[in-house]
Amino acid sequence: MQSSQQYIQENKDRFLNELLEILRIPSISADPACAGDVRKAAEWVAQNLKVSGAENVRLEETAGHPIVYGEKLVDPNAPTVLVYGHYDVQPADPLHLWDSPPFEPVVKDGAIYGRGTCDDKGQFFMHVKAFEAMLKAGELKCNVKFMIEGEEEIGSDHLGVFVKANKDLLSADVILISDTSIIANDIPSIDVGLRGLSYLEVKVQGPNKDLHSGVYGGAVANPVNILCQMIASLQDEFNRITIPGFYEDVEELSATDRAAMAQTPFDLENYQKELGISAVHGEAGYSTLERASIRPTLDVNGIWGGYIGEGAKTVLPSVANAKISMRLVPNQSSEKITELFTKHFLSIAPKGVQVTVTPHHGGEAYVMPTDSIAYQAAAEAMEKTFGSTPVPTRGGGSIPIVALFEKELGIKSVLMGFGLDSDDIHSPNEHYGLFNFYKGIETIPYFFDNYYRLNQ
Ligand code: BES
Ligand code: MN
Ligand code: MN
Repeated sequence: MQSSQQYIQENKDRFLNELLEILRIPSISADPACAGDVRKAAEWVAQNLKVSGAENVRLEETAGHPIVYGEKLVDPNAPTVLVYGHYDVQPADPLHLWDSPPFEPVVKDGAIYGRGTCDDKGQFFMHVKAFEAMLKAGELKCNVKFMIEGEEEIGSDHLGVFVKANKDLLSADVILISDTSIIANDIPSIDVGLRGLSYLEVKVQGPNKDLHSGVYGGAVANPVNILCQMIASLQDEFNRITIPGFYEDVEELSATDRAAMAQTPFDLENYQKELGISAVHGEAGYSTLERASIRPTLDVNGIWGGYIGEGAKTVLPSVANAKISMRLVPNQSSEKITELFTKHFLSIAPKGVQVTVTPHHGGEAYVMPTDSIAYQAAAEAMEKTFGSTPVPTRGGGSIPIVALFEKELGIKSVLMGFGLDSDDIHSPNEHYGLFNFYKGIETIPYFFDNYYRLNQ
């Protein structure tokens, strides 16, 4: 019988063509107009899982988008791996900045271009194909459960409900996720941390209508000016967040851990060059890598109000709005931070305007110990296919459900991602290297082998 690795080599082109099919479905979870396509994507995933050999495949309905479930239970005494991923994607706008349409994927210069190529369709699909290969080769020794959701990009609220209600169904020894990045194609790494998140929207209401900025300007509070002042005051001259109590629960890294982190390969000059910036910026006393992973942050994601059309219009706007996110680190509670923000933001509102704060989603940070069997299985698998031991890294992004998996199911997650930070996820021209797609498919069977062996 053929080995899984041989099977992968022989079916490479088909795997890619199948991926292109799901990439053509605009499963934007945030856009109500796409709800039908989100469902179509779920049905596609279910169908592909079935054909690949999974059993009990079904759509689990939620109050939002469906969750795709499937499994292959080979031996009640063998360890069970729960594969999690998401088939939903971020909105594609601004559309005019794409070189080719976001939902008409193309292969160009060794990469697949399109929304969701890396985040996360290209990555979760590697697991479906690796599973198919292991099954066809008769190599699958662990039980596998798949749970591919459709609301990761909007906070996974309904998945949280589903997890709490289906603990038996989801029982497993480890959760395996490919939804993060490696440092470079020749420097493999494994994220051992994710940041938490608190996301909210603020509104500053001034006069009951837009006013002539000459007739009223100077005498009536301008909500846009006020909002900018309020937001600017949230960080001090050291770029530390000024919300009282914000840093109270922050877990500080030990000197040893910081020294280890300083060894992580990082090229500041190249980083600046790739982003087109002449200097980095952030909390005083921390390196760029630390600022973007183990330190909490506050960022405006969007801000609007007043006249933004062609030319000039003299107006004193009646309302200003902003969407603000705070990335959180281990031991901070997103609920508490949302409360602290709200209390503080309302307290700094000057007279003459009305401020409201509306929380969106949130989630907690996560850390994976490197001395676990699961980490070891992933590290050895990557070492096998990349030829060098992966570097443990702390990721700056968030996958809020991961902390919830641990809390509700008591299961740790291994973040064996294969993307690159330069893949432009959430941006125009998102792409995923063919190297990365195939390397992922080839590495996953080794994870399963290692995980089975290390559990004996
Ligand atoms: N896959 C990303 C998270 C990620 C990317 C982690 C790169 C580490 C490295 C995920 O799809 C994502 O975008 N998460 C959101 C959170 C969600 C609540 C909208 C994020 O981090 O902004
Ligand atoms: Mn993702
Ligand atoms: Mn994402």
